[in-house]
Amino acid sequence: MPVVSVSREGEIAVVTVDNPPVNALSQAVRRALFDATTELDADDGVKAVVLACAGRTFSAGTDLSEFGKTPMEPHLPDLVNRIEASVKPWIAAIHGTALGGGFEIALGCRFRVTVPDAAIGLPEVTLGIVPGASGTVRTPRLVGAEAAVELVTGGKPVKAAKALSMGLVDAVVQGDLLQSVLAFASDAVARPLPVPLSQRTVAAPASTFWEDKKGAIAKRAKGETAPLAALECVRMAVELSFDEALAFERKTFLDLRASEQAAALRAVFFAERAARRPAGLKGVEPLPLRKAGVVGGGTMGAGITVALRDAGIPVVLIERDAEAVARGLANVRTIFEGGVKRAKLTKSQAEAKLAGVTASTDCGLLADADMVIEAVFEELGVKRTVFNQLGRLCRPDSIIATNTSYLDLRLIAEGVPDPSRFIGLHFFSPANIMRLLEIVPIPETAPRTLATGFALARALDKIPVQAGICEGFIGNRILKRYRAAAEALVYDGVPIAEIDAAMRDYGFAMGPFEAQDLGGLDIAYLQREGARANGRDVPETLGDILVRAGRKGQKTGGGWYDYAGDRKPQPSAVVAELLAGKIARMTAHSAIAGHLVGEMAAEGDAILAEGVAGQPSDIDLVEIHGYGFPRWRGGPMFARAHSHRQQDV
Ligand code: NAI
Repeated sequence: MPVVSVSREGEIAVVTVDNPPVNALSQAVRRALFDATTELDADDGVKAVVLACAGRTFSAGTDLSEFGKTPMEPHLPDLVNRIEASVKPWIAAIHGTALGGGFEIALGCRFRVTVPDAAIGLPEVTLGIVPGASGTVRTPRLVGAEAAVELVTGGKPVKAAKALSMGLVDAVVQGDLLQSVLAFASDAVARPLPVPLSQRTVAAPASTFWEDKKGAIAKRAKGETAPLAALECVRMAVELSFDEALAFERKTFLDLRASEQAAALRAVFFAERAARRPAGLKGVEPLPLRKAGVVGGGTMGAGITVALRDAGIPVVLIERDAEAVARGLANVRTIFEGGVKRAKLTKSQAEAKLAGVTASTDCGLLADADMVIEAVFEELGVKRTVFNQLGRLCRPDSIIATNTSYLDLRLIAEGVPDPSRFIGLHFFSPANIMRLLEIVPIPETAPRTLATGFALARALDKIPVQAGICEGFIGNRILKRYRAAAEALVYDGVPIAEIDAAMRDYGFAMGPFEAQDLGGLDIAYLQREGARANGRDVPETLGDILVRAGRKGQKTGGGWYDYAGDRKPQPSAVVAELLAGKIARMTAHSAIAGHLVGEMAAEGDAILAEGVAGQPSDIDLVEIHGYGFPRWRGGPMFARAHSHRQQDV
């Protein structure tokens, strides 16, 4: 099958790209499209050209497998220019997504027509680069500077209706796309054609626009370079001629493509893709997930219920007594109402989602669930009782999972009839938002159970990472080491605020101490106390001293910092006093972040050596998706491996 074919519908030619799975713009596709422009320009019988794509989507853009290789002609910018320069107007017929290079090809067309569920966008910044084939130059000429800045610096695709209102597309059509676009084409050629984008100019925005945007984007980007570079490209597109702006964009694109940040973001992108479908589970059919159960409607149970409902899966939510049932349901409702407040959901959508939750004390309702996830108190006895019941009540082929953070899964599963269906599914709080899902099999877990865990992650749009059994799995184990290393710096005399600032500079939203104040110091404290009560030798931490003094974090008005009625951390004289005898002389510490990230990676080494994680990139995914590690640093393992190139690691 040729990757590009040309057919005729009367006086309209239809050029179809067929390069599964996502019609990436490989060299063969670019060459064939280039040839098609020449062929159709020479054909007097053709009045207009429809550019369509076969399969599930319009072109999703650059062929990522060509990344890092010597670029081969024709280059994408030349192809986009060539399409625009065609004697016959080209019309892009968009279904699925037109992303990056895919959308840039559409920008070379004189018109863009989409179906209602299509999405278009320029997500290049998420890979640490900017559009490289006129996306930053033609987009402002199509929709103005403000809208272009939003699209190019944010990287978020927009749905058809919004694209239409922004002016990114000319029409959104119902029914058969090709037939509608053929009709659109016949109509369009009967009227004067719009001026090609390369020949248009852009109105300058308000005088403060660029500085305001720069400030806002720098704040959001936290050290990531691509969004600011994208802003600069759009600014040049407004202030320079088309050709000059194109040259500026190209140079920026090539510089960024060779950067360490782009390498990190590419590595994360490929790691995520591989994580969704582990090679070891090829050919293993997961169990279909038509109905789920959740036991425990607290913080995690409610969040997991919402995540399941967001994926359209009906949920039975089980709690201990009538009062707890009402509270659990209220927890779920609160999350949906939050979605309505933030305009993520309409009221009726929220109601429909809530209507799909059956809350009860009756475990018998779980009898026909395909999967049940337990999220009750973190106590072995309580969990064992629950699984004892589930083992008896649930369908024999259903999957039963625990969301435990620290307990030994083998002990929880003890006594469960047929433990091949038992698995750990460790969600992160808030479970409907955080994308990480640690999947923890026990030795008896069947491949199908494991495959269903991964299928669940795909259904919930989460990033699954398989972890082995140990206290804290991958993420919480690294967190423990990270916090201990941060405390060690405090012992060495590095001010708490300086450590937090260093990690913010590194790209985290919060440093380790601020984050503990937000989440509460007591959870980890209780866990340490539990271990001590069981006779384990857990050395006293600085956190223990604070909790014993009643400083559990923001909720008690103070933890590592004081809070004067707001969320702004202020260095605390009380803490200085409490820790006084513990802290050594002030010593300069110039590479706090590098040290702490090194500690995280060292724990990663131990985790790998024990087989708790399968590969370094899994550890990076856990840190990025569960613990706020800056994505553009690639994760602790990637950052350390590339530390000779990252100046400040
Ligand atoms: P939580 O205390 O907010 O909720 C626990 C709920 O379980 C309560 O509503 C309680 O009424 C219910 N429950 C207790 N015994 C029950 C029983 N026999 N049958 C039915 N319901 C019962 O606790 P949270 O924070 O939601 O944690 C739940 C589990 O998730 C724990 O194992 C915890 O370690 C784990 N986890 C917690 C995370 C967090 O950030 N809070 C993150 C990841 C896992």
